[in-house]
Amino acid sequence: MKRNTILLISVFFICLLSGPVSNAQNRVDRSFPKENLFSLGSYYYPEQWDESQWDRDLGNMAAMGIKFTHFAEFAWGMMEPEEGKFDFAWLDKAVSLAEKHGLKVILCTPTPTPPVWLTKKYPDILIVRDNGVQIQHSRRQHASWSSERYREYVERIVTKLAERYGNNPNVIGWQIDNEPGHYGVMDYSENAQSAFRRWLREKYGSIEALNKTWGCAFWSETYQDFGQVRLPNAQEVPEKPNPHAVLDMKCFMADELAGFVNFQADILRSHISDNQWITTNLIPVFTPVDPVKMDHTDFLTYTRYLVTGHRDGIGEQGFRIGDPEYLGFSNDQFRNFTGNRFGVMELQPGQVNWGTFNPQPMPGAVRMWVYHVFAGGGKFVCNYRFRQPLRGSEQYHYGMMLTDGVTLSPGGEEYVQINKELELLRKAYDPKAREPECRSARRTAILYEMPVHWEVENQKQTPQWKTLDHAQKYHRLLKKMACPVDVISEKADFNRYPFMIAPAYQLLDSALVERWTSYVKKGGHLVLTCRTGQKDRNGALWQELLSAPIYGLAGLKGLFYDHLPQNYHGNIEMDGKSYRWNNWADVLTPAPSTEVWAGYADQFYKGSAAVTHRKLGKGTVTYIAADTDDAALEEDVLRRLYSKAGVKVENLPEGVIKEWRDGFSIVLNYRSDAVSIDIPADAEIILGGRELGPAGVAVWK
Ligand code: GAL
Repeated sequence: MKRNTILLISVFFICLLSGPVSNAQNRVDRSFPKENLFSLGSYYYPEQWDESQWDRDLGNMAAMGIKFTHFAEFAWGMMEPEEGKFDFAWLDKAVSLAEKHGLKVILCTPTPTPPVWLTKKYPDILIVRDNGVQIQHSRRQHASWSSERYREYVERIVTKLAERYGNNPNVIGWQIDNEPGHYGVMDYSENAQSAFRRWLREKYGSIEALNKTWGCAFWSETYQDFGQVRLPNAQEVPEKPNPHAVLDMKCFMADELAGFVNFQADILRSHISDNQWITTNLIPVFTPVDPVKMDHTDFLTYTRYLVTGHRDGIGEQGFRIGDPEYLGFSNDQFRNFTGNRFGVMELQPGQVNWGTFNPQPMPGAVRMWVYHVFAGGGKFVCNYRFRQPLRGSEQYHYGMMLTDGVTLSPGGEEYVQINKELELLRKAYDPKAREPECRSARRTAILYEMPVHWEVENQKQTPQWKTLDHAQKYHRLLKKMACPVDVISEKADFNRYPFMIAPAYQLLDSALVERWTSYVKKGGHLVLTCRTGQKDRNGALWQELLSAPIYGLAGLKGLFYDHLPQNYHGNIEMDGKSYRWNNWADVLTPAPSTEVWAGYADQFYKGSAAVTHRKLGKGTVTYIAADTDDAALEEDVLRRLYSKAGVKVENLPEGVIKEWRDGFSIVLNYRSDAVSIDIPADAEIILGGRELGPAGVAVWK
């Protein structure tokens, strides 16, 4: 069946089932009831282990307190060893062994790994790199989302799976694919090239409109028809490709991917029971992944690895603990994609095999990460993976069990401990508990959309600019102030938030400026940061002064930006205190009635505004024009803003995270040293205490 026909039929079915959202809410909550608080799962690959060990392994998994397992996201070759010949006997057995041990099952569609007979017979389904090399069989994520032929094979295997397990009460839900995203490789196959041209035709209507939007008059880039356009490719041009084409390519790829996920979701939904939910597991903030578009799923999950040698963390041992934003930002973002429901589908149980180097996590860190997901409102953690492989890919990757398959790894021991502790939390759970008002009063939204991220990343202008770090810096400061944060998309209702930060929100339109204006007039406190509003949604500068569309809102009259060399710092002054900046500075000309909170203390624009603030209606707009490394300026501005608004905030040590969930206060210590934390004298302490060592956790109510 062709893609469009499937889509139409699916849409029909979805409408018939009267709104996926309300059903979705019920079915996810049915698997993960609120009073159960939190659930633990673990990945198992029956295809990787001797069949005689499955029973033992799943029994051991259940004995540790694990409640569900996760099968088959890479097992297409086992399910369909020859074209059209299906073998599910092994999976039937694994699912029923799980059931025997009281483990529920998440089943996956195996679409990241087409079998070798398929890619050999039809190499046109493979993706092609920017250098023209076609990616071949033997790893994963190598088939093109744009290939109609691939989709036909996908439809068949997904249908078979759904028919077989869609009414199995032990299967609670489905994961589509695995970390869909081609691991960041853009697909330059002919399938993708033609799909891109179709996408452009639909977006622009005429080639003239494309030429105009992409600025093709310059350098004779002008196209005569869509057939001449290719995906922008740095290998095919002597310098960076056209920036508008790059933005369109990322949005197109994200649409192809979301279409691929939604296509599978529709097939599943037309076969499976109403009790089974559908999700996929995403790498957060990734190219070309736009989770907002994967809206045929019931909810979304993410995958995270904190100790991989890539990041220093906090303090001398931080490399063993990880950065709090890694989980914190993702919790706050994924919770908001799909109505307050998310889980973490992969979390490392120990050392991984693919880091820049592979340190052992700090004892306790595995446990703390699980509590971080709990604290962020997650429904579950599914630990990656139960056993450590002995051969093949992922040798050296820790599991819950060590290489002998039966001895718990240190991380495995921590899961056993968490399972016991969850019982204490369940006993203490009070369904009537409500978030303390002092906390709700500081609820802050961070507005983050992938097209904006992609556009800024593509035109950084200075090697010191890091788009996600810029946003996560604000997240970290808000967490220091113990603010509840929601990382939202433009789909969200802004009016739910007393405070909102739009970090480096470079792309906008008049509709967004109007929404912000009305949000502020009603009493919202809006913080805009450097780079905001420079361009329209297609990445064109306005035929006005730079960032002019936000001048009315922010109380500005003009703006230009500046960068400094890496080893040189400029100074900013606020209230007699001096701050250093180095990465990015918007230099502001405020309108007469706008307050200047901070100004540049040197450079040829000495005396110009670096932070402005104005009242508008019942709310305020603050513009933080500089991006600093130490975040001292940004922190003091935020504190001043919340205090002016009469909202009390805390002052936690860096790396100490404090959250509230279902009546529990949870504190986590990502620092390399011990800290003393404030726990009210009358609190009932359930876990930990007032002294928290590195990777320590305290929970009280
Ligand atoms: C993830 C991936 C898993 C596994 C894991 C190893 O990114 O989704 O399949 O490879 O990494 O850490």
